[in-house]
Amino acid sequence: MMTIKKINKIKGTFSLPSDKSISHRALMLSSIAGGKTSIDNFLHCDDTAATLNCLLKLGIAVNTSGGSSLIIEGKGLRFKITKPEVRLNAGESGTTMRILSGLLCGQSFNTHFQASEGLSRRPMQRIITPLTRMGAVISGTEASGNVYPPLYIRGHQPLLRPIDYVMPVASAQVKSAILFASLYAQGMTTIKEPSPSRDHTERMFTLFGMNISAHKSLISFECGQRPVSPEKIFIPADFSSAAFFIVLGLITEDSQFTLKNININPTRSALLQVLKRMGADIRIINENKAYEPYADIVVKSSALRATEITSEEVPAMIDEVQILSVAAAFAKGNTAISGVEELRVKETDRIEATIKNLSAAGVTIYTEKETLTGKEKLIIQGCSKFRKAAFSSFNDHRTAMSAIIQGAASGKECAIDNCECINKSFPQFLQMIDSL
Ligand code: S3P
Repeated sequence: MMTIKKINKIKGTFSLPSDKSISHRALMLSSIAGGKTSIDNFLHCDDTAATLNCLLKLGIAVNTSGGSSLIIEGKGLRFKITKPEVRLNAGESGTTMRILSGLLCGQSFNTHFQASEGLSRRPMQRIITPLTRMGAVISGTEASGNVYPPLYIRGHQPLLRPIDYVMPVASAQVKSAILFASLYAQGMTTIKEPSPSRDHTERMFTLFGMNISAHKSLISFECGQRPVSPEKIFIPADFSSAAFFIVLGLITEDSQFTLKNININPTRSALLQVLKRMGADIRIINENKAYEPYADIVVKSSALRATEITSEEVPAMIDEVQILSVAAAFAKGNTAISGVEELRVKETDRIEATIKNLSAAGVTIYTEKETLTGKEKLIIQGCSKFRKAAFSSFNDHRTAMSAIIQGAASGKECAIDNCECINKSFPQFLQMIDSL
């Protein structure tokens, strides 16, 4: 158990780790592009290491001697593997397994794709359904109406088929798996999402010289285009990592600070609008309109009030619902977040984890089923008297970081177990919290 100390009066300027989702995609596209790519400000963490290791096993040459600057020699769409089968391991990284599967089903060799314990419990039918319709042959462990890792992906040549796919659930991982598979098909692929999920793959396809059109939640891509290296990619800081500090700044007394170069892609940063509705004093300055927009975010302590979040807003803040729940616990009134059911199939059941941790701290928090839509709604009552609590990370990085922010802002000498999972996305987090 690690004890959590009180934090307030945060001042200064902070740099945060680079974006995880963009780092994964930069690695994958650079590997299959024509030309050499230098990736600046790459995120080194457990999840991106999983992608990097898979690509190394697929014969990609990566120069990592420059620390956060990597140089990748693109090998073209087909990996030069002569063996009939390759064994890969995605560790705990869902993004690695789901997106790379799209790319692997267009190769000539078979892939045995393994996962660590947590990822082995996460559903893969969501990628298998569209990829199978494209001609891929993928199997895994079947249980309770879904398919789980390890996956076995049969090599497929010459070409996959394009697809018109209406996604039942907004998911950037599924959308990206289809887009990567479309590189190995011919014809037009269209994807329709219930509401737009993060569009990093679409932006990076454009950066690599391909035409892709995206209007609201309809994406069209002419299959078979070839990615060409942009030579240099700069990866801004991760909004999801920044979210923990944004909320910490708002709910601690007498804080005012600046977070540098944070990705403010609108399909990622819906939390900003929600927090502003809650009365947050947040300013965006020094905006840079690169292929991924980024800016400095100035945060000041604020008295928050409750708000209602619609299910359409959730995909653009899917990884921030837990830290928003912490902000809601410090706000006045009842906050309701509609359409949270996808959080049940993340690294852990994040609804159950959030309810357990916040309840332990004295917060009234529960879910309701909406009668008309069948969607799940999370309700968090603003709390005026927090308690000392023993939190669990549930082996999930975002559950751990959210609980630590809760405990540090309440100042109730809380404790938490198993924080190694934070290395999944933000290895410097505990050191930064300690320094505050
Ligand atoms: C991610 C997409 C999201 C997100 C995950 C990273 C990505 O998952 O929760 O942390 O990089 O594409 P879904 O695609 O399942 O919504």
